[in-house]
Amino acid sequence: MALTNTALADRFVDGIYEQGLSDVLRGLLYIPRRLSHIWLYDERGSRLFERICDLPEYYVTRTETAIMRAHARDMAAHLGGPLALIEYGSGSSDKTRMLIDALPELRAYVPVDIAVSSLARAARALGHDYPQLAVLPLCADFTRTLQLPPQLDPHMRRLIYFPGSTLGNYEPAEARRLLGAMHALAGPDGMALIGIDLVKERALLERAYDDARGVTAEFNLNALRHVNRRLGIGFDISHFRHRALWMDAEQRIEMHLVSAVPQTVRVGGAVIRMLRGDFIRTECCHKYDAQSFAQLAAAAGWRVREAWSDANRWFSVQLLAPA
Ligand code: AVI
Repeated sequence: MALTNTALADRFVDGIYEQGLSDVLRGLLYIPRRLSHIWLYDERGSRLFERICDLPEYYVTRTETAIMRAHARDMAAHLGGPLALIEYGSGSSDKTRMLIDALPELRAYVPVDIAVSSLARAARALGHDYPQLAVLPLCADFTRTLQLPPQLDPHMRRLIYFPGSTLGNYEPAEARRLLGAMHALAGPDGMALIGIDLVKERALLERAYDDARGVTAEFNLNALRHVNRRLGIGFDISHFRHRALWMDAEQRIEMHLVSAVPQTVRVGGAVIRMLRGDFIRTECCHKYDAQSFAQLAAAAGWRVREAWSDANRWFSVQLLAPA
């Protein structure tokens, strides 16, 4: 859906929570109990996430930004021809400016996000700062099939941009499906540029997801506030504690909300019983190495054409071309 009307787009955002109650209930009946990571992101959650990005423990954002600053021109050298840039989960588009500045042949930019107000704000600011660029915002859930704006020249080469290691928040099968959908959207001469967080020392990872100031804890607990507000559930926030655990077998951090007391919670017509120590999994953050990511990409029809990393090898930006 192209962003033409704010009221329409607001209804769309509500729409992604339409199936909310039955999905939440189903997730809470599984063991381990789970709540989709989309519940982390209401307005307060998005603000808390912005604070996380500036935390000393959360190396992800500043490391990726440094890689982009150092290598954007090098990346651009691989991307010839009049180009359209399509960004998944674009948010404020702030960091994309480094890429836009490095791409002289960039003609169109399609930021894709479900959060209509930040999408509209970012599109306005970019339109102002880059008058030669066609900025075509798309208010959509990128996990579903995207209908690109009709103004986009169908013959222009496409670069899909998915920074921030957000791909890591999807289970491998879903990540493969998403990469496959990007492959289809990019077309036979398209490419993708993906931010991937790399496997590293456990202590460093667990600290990044459980900071000393408790911002990540607040971000995690906020998912319960969000479902309470939107679905009328009565989770008592004070009965839960945040936990971040590195799971070696799955190569991922899991964020949990651990029940601090025995409790029962009413969800729709059902009653969920939790013992002290039972937990709800709210997010998975998968980490890759060069080989595991190349395998994932290959399963979706891509090959890694080039990759850039920082001196610590904490994060990498991977350029994919059709295999
Ligand atoms: C959005 N995403 C890439 C973040 C991550 O690192 O997986 C979300 C996050 N969760 C806790 N801290 C940050």
